[in-house]
Amino acid sequence: MKVIFFSAKPYDRQFFNRYNNIPGLETEYYETHLGPHIVNVIEDAYAVCVFVNDKLSAPVLEAIAAKGVKVIALRCAGFNNLDLDAAKRLGLRVCRVPAYSPEAVAEHTIAMLLTLNRKTHKAYNRVREQNFSLDGLLGFNLSGKTIGVIGTGKIGKAFCKIMLGFGCTVVAYDVYEDAGLKELGVAYKSQGEVLATADILSLHCPLTAENHYLINSDTLAQMKDGVIVLNTSRGGLISTADMIEALKSKKVGALGIDVYEQEEKLFFRDLSENIIEDDTIQRLMSFPNVLVTAHQAFFTDEALSQIAKVTLGSIAAFAEGSEPSPEVILV
Ligand code: NAI
Repeated sequence: MKVIFFSAKPYDRQFFNRYNNIPGLETEYYETHLGPHIVNVIEDAYAVCVFVNDKLSAPVLEAIAAKGVKVIALRCAGFNNLDLDAAKRLGLRVCRVPAYSPEAVAEHTIAMLLTLNRKTHKAYNRVREQNFSLDGLLGFNLSGKTIGVIGTGKIGKAFCKIMLGFGCTVVAYDVYEDAGLKELGVAYKSQGEVLATADILSLHCPLTAENHYLINSDTLAQMKDGVIVLNTSRGGLISTADMIEALKSKKVGALGIDVYEQEEKLFFRDLSENIIEDDTIQRLMSFPNVLVTAHQAFFTDEALSQIAKVTLGSIAAFAEGSEPSPEVILV
């Protein structure tokens, strides 16, 4: 039984090979992302294993199904890159890893916030050049500030708990309210109230057709002047063009993003010798108060171990004809 991996990096091989103790399970790795240009390499595969920027449109899924593939294994939580209806129609089984390490993503969000606020990235470079001046490094206390959280699922919940530990007031919006978080002191409000009251806004909801460009010129106008916006969820939640205008007008005081709406053309690759044609990300990166990381929030040893174990377990369960646990099954 063969599993073909796309968008496979050395660390994917390392962790999947480490946890592949399934008898007869053979792995084949391709560094390129999955799309119409590469479906021809799929031969004799039981499963195809993909990541966030592989594009599983209906035509790609049709080509995969025609090759006899039975399972699509997403080694990530989000699935906005896959046409679920098409997968269902084609009889493909689709699984994901719903919670490999919510703490990994929540902790990275805090790392971004602390970097933006306390300017540790600048301090690091300054001190190495024997510049011990503090000018320009002024931050503010997080304690006592209001943190707005959109989406209090697994990651949002972990993030809320950490922010409560910092002594922040946490206000949140989610279509479902979490009783445990309420007990801890999180106040659920309407989305509008969260946007209007947050000193720091962090996005932890999935990207759907309804919330595409949730952060746009209208919603930015509702926010406090100087708000810090953090997005470790999906790039399409923010209109980058509107965000650039808000940064230029100083409406937004700082922006930390681990995801970007055009990231599939850039992220997970070393382009240091290339000319970047995406002027929007270049403009974003030119702001001193913008921090971009390249979809690394999940990137911890614990998370990669969990991703490999859960994905291999799901594929093996499908192959044996026994269903994996319901929360990993999408179709
Ligand atoms: P989850 O499914 O546990 O939680 C999502 C929450 O968002 C749910 O409580 C849901 O009710 C809520 N929600 C859905 N639509 C909403 C809306 N329009 N407004 C407000 N709340 C809404 O998902 P989890 O594990 O917390 O992940 C959240 C997102 O984080 C994922 O969808 C994914 O896009 C992103 N992610 C990013 C990673 C990274 O490395 N940067 C790694 C893993 C996930």
